Amino acid sequence: MQSKDPCIARGNYGRYKAFSLCIVVWSVVRIPLLPPETALWNFVEAAVRDVFRAYNFHEIRTPIFESTELFARGVGEETDIVSKEMYTWQDQGRAQSDQGQSLTLRPENTAGVVRAYIEHKLWDRGLSKLYYIGPQFRRERPQKGRYRQFYQIGAEVIGPASAGSESPARDAEILELLATLLDRLGIKDWTLELNSIGCANDRAAYNEALRKALEPVAPKMCVDCQRRAVTNPLRVFDCKVPEDQPIIEKLPRISQFLDEPCRKHFEEVKEILRAVGVEFQLNDRLVRGLDYYSRTAFEFTHGALGAQNAILGGGRYDGLSEMLGGPAAPGIGFAMGEDRLVLALSESAEAVLRKPDVYIAPLGGNMNKEAARLARELRRHDVVVELGDERFRLKKSFEAADKAAAKYILIVGENEVKADVFALKNLATGEQKAVPRAELAQMIQH
Ligand code: HAM
Repeated sequence: MQSKDPCIARGNYGRYKAFSLCIVVWSVVRIPLLPPETALWNFVEAAVRDVFRAYNFHEIRTPIFESTELFARGVGEETDIVSKEMYTWQDQGRAQSDQGQSLTLRPENTAGVVRAYIEHKLWDRGLSKLYYIGPQFRRERPQKGRYRQFYQIGAEVIGPASAGSESPARDAEILELLATLLDRLGIKDWTLELNSIGCANDRAAYNEALRKALEPVAPKMCVDCQRRAVTNPLRVFDCKVPEDQPIIEKLPRISQFLDEPCRKHFEEVKEILRAVGVEFQLNDRLVRGLDYYSRTAFEFTHGALGAQNAILGGGRYDGLSEMLGGPAAPGIGFAMGEDRLVLALSESAEAVLRKPDVYIAPLGGNMNKEAARLARELRRHDVVVELGDERFRLKKSFEAADKAAAKYILIVGENEVKADVFALKNLATGEQKAVPRAELAQMIQH
C-alpha cells in the first residue's frame, strides 16, 4: 500500500519526488546544524553554562511535548502562539484514558517549568533558580532568524514570596546576568528595552481604557485587532500590520495605570540597574506577546539581526503558578533565541573550532593497531587526535593531515615502533623531531 507520508512514499519516479518533498518539508522546519557551525553553538552553550553557574542557577530539562491545555492556559488563548502557531495533535493513546488527549510540541518553556514546579512541589526548596537549553516549536513563516524549530536558552527564578521571589532585586539580577552573558560572548551594541505592565488590577483598568479607546477605531483595523479589541485588548500591541500602527501609537500607555506598589517595584529595579551600570531604555509600548506577564517586562534587541531583532525577551509572571492550579509563586525569567544569538556573534565558527593537535599516520602493514594504541594514549592526555589508515601512502596521509588542519603529523612505521621513538613533524613550520613515546603528549601540547 502506498503511504500518504511524502517521506515514506514509494514508486518509480515517486522515490525521487518523495525525497525532494522531504527536503522541502524539513528545510522549513529547521536546517540541520552542521560542523563547523555546531562548534559555535557549543562555544555559546559552554559560556552560558559558566555564567549560570556563577549566578547559582541549575539545569532543568522539561518534556518536549506537553498537554495542549498547559500552553492554552499558561500562555493565553488569544496570543499568536496559542491561536496560530502551535503544533498540536490528538494522541491515539494506548490506554482508554489516554485516547483523544490533545498534545502540543512546546512553543516555549516557562509553562513547562512552572508545571514541573507545581508537580514536584519545588517550593519546599525555597527559591528555585533554573535554566534550560533546548528546542521549541512554532508554526511561523520561516525566514532569517525565525524558524519553526528554534532553540532557546532560558532561565526562571520562582518560589514562595517568603523566599524573596517577588523582590525587585531578582529582576535586576536577571537583567545584570543577561548583560554579563552578552558581554562575555562578545555581543556588542545590544539595547535593553524595559517596561512595567503592572499587576492584575492595573491591567484590568488598562484593558478597560484600551477597550474604550479602541471602540471607535477598531473597524479600521485588521481582522485580528477587531477581535482582540473585544476579547483581549492588550494583544493589539502584538499587531504587525503597518496600517494599524498609527492607531496603536495613539492608544493609552500602561505606564499611566500603575498603582503605587508596582510603580515602587519598577523604580527599585531601575535603581539597582543604574547602580550596577546596566543601561536600559524605557519603552511603555512593550507588553510582550504572552498573557502570563506582570510588572517587569523586557527585551534585548540587536541591530545586526534586521527584522527579527529581539535576541531575547522575558519578564515577571507572578500569577502563573496559580493560573495553572499551583500555590502563589512569583517568578521572573527570560528566553533567548540561540539561533539569533549565534547570528549576532562576531566570533566565527572556524575560530572556535578545536582542530586536531595531531594526525597519526600509520605507515606500512600491521601499523593500524600500533597507531590505535598511540591514539588511545594521547587522547587520555586530552590531545585531539585524527587517525589515518595504513592503506594510505605517505603523500595521502600528509594531504589528509593538511585537510584536517592538524598541527602535527606523527609517523608510525615499523622502525618507529621498534625504537619506541616517533617522527613528529610540525605542519606549519616544517620542523621534524624524533620524540620518545613517553614525551609525545607533552611535546604536542607545548
Ligand atoms: P518569546 O519572546 O516568545 O518569550 O521568545 C523568546 C526569544 O525566543 C525571542 O526573543 C527570540 O529570540 C526567540 N524566538 C522566538 N520565536 C522564534 C522563532 N520562531 N525562531 C527563532 N527564534 C525565536 C518566551 O518564549 C518566554 N517563555 C520567555 C520567558 C521566560 N519569559 C519569562 N520566562
